[in-house]
Amino acid sequence: MSKIPMLIDCDPGLDDAIAILTAAHTADLVGITTVNGNVGIEHTTHNALAVLQAAGLDVPVHRGAARPLVADTIDASYVHGPTGLGSVTIPDLDRSEDSDDAVGFILETSHDIEGLHLVAIGPLTNIALALRRDPTLPDRLGGLTIMGGAAVGGNVTATAEFNIWADPEAAAIVLREAGPVTMVGLDVTHQVLLGPEERDMLRDAGFPAARLAADLLDYAVERIGEIRGWAGAPIHDACAVLAATDPDLFGGDVRPVDVELTGALTRGMTVVDYRPSGRDGRIAPDDSATLVLREVDAPTVVHRIVDAVIKLGP
Ligand code: BDR
Ligand code: CA
Repeated sequence: MSKIPMLIDCDPGLDDAIAILTAAHTADLVGITTVNGNVGIEHTTHNALAVLQAAGLDVPVHRGAARPLVADTIDASYVHGPTGLGSVTIPDLDRSEDSDDAVGFILETSHDIEGLHLVAIGPLTNIALALRRDPTLPDRLGGLTIMGGAAVGGNVTATAEFNIWADPEAAAIVLREAGPVTMVGLDVTHQVLLGPEERDMLRDAGFPAARLAADLLDYAVERIGEIRGWAGAPIHDACAVLAATDPDLFGGDVRPVDVELTGALTRGMTVVDYRPSGRDGRIAPDDSATLVLREVDAPTVVHRIVDAVIKLGP
């Protein structure tokens, strides 16, 4: 079966890096765009290039937004480390990014490649800007999958997940204007934990990209263990890649979703309307509603992530 063409918009980030490696095997990875998020845009762009270099992948990288649309810039270096790639020593790069016009690249690629899947695993700034530059973008996509939000709860605040919290205005534009979006939120990703066993399998594979994934996972497990007391770490962003390539491993339903922008306790919350369809015409799922994933075959997804990275080897 042929692999789906995928463009990843990301902010590497420990789990973004593992998501890129996963997609390099499970999808036809046609490009990467970077965004400010877990760390600043200099780091996220550098890290995307470093991950590709470690895996020997020749994939175009285009730098995107250096700050959110409206919000102040925040980061998650307390989770991902000061450079965004934990304590990994990043080698000198043998190339630089292809442009600083991520939005232009997203739009151009949507014209050039039929059925392009856009997988956004950072704050949604670039995607919102792309929609503002060309609102017909969704018409040309094979799918738009985001890692972000949750039907219940948050991780940065009690109600907000990091990618939405980091640029709520952008997320609101995407969820209101992008047509059908698949939302892979914390409801799913907190079920998909990778731990020491998976780290050891990656390390034993012994080639540079697998060793990199092992080092990133090690750091994530240690940080998440410290913060949450879990024995494994959720590799959120790789779940979004697999939701696009292996949708049968996930379950959920189509619901209206919006983003709270003003609540003192709820800014950045993804508000999912679970009232029964038809009780009120406004809430009946329609073409613009979101597929909110909440169920996952977690053991299989964990296996697929590890297997995908190992298959990149010689
Ligand atoms: C999301 O936030 C980031 O820190 C991760 O890379 C992931 O995309 C999880 O909330
Ligand atoms: Ca991310």
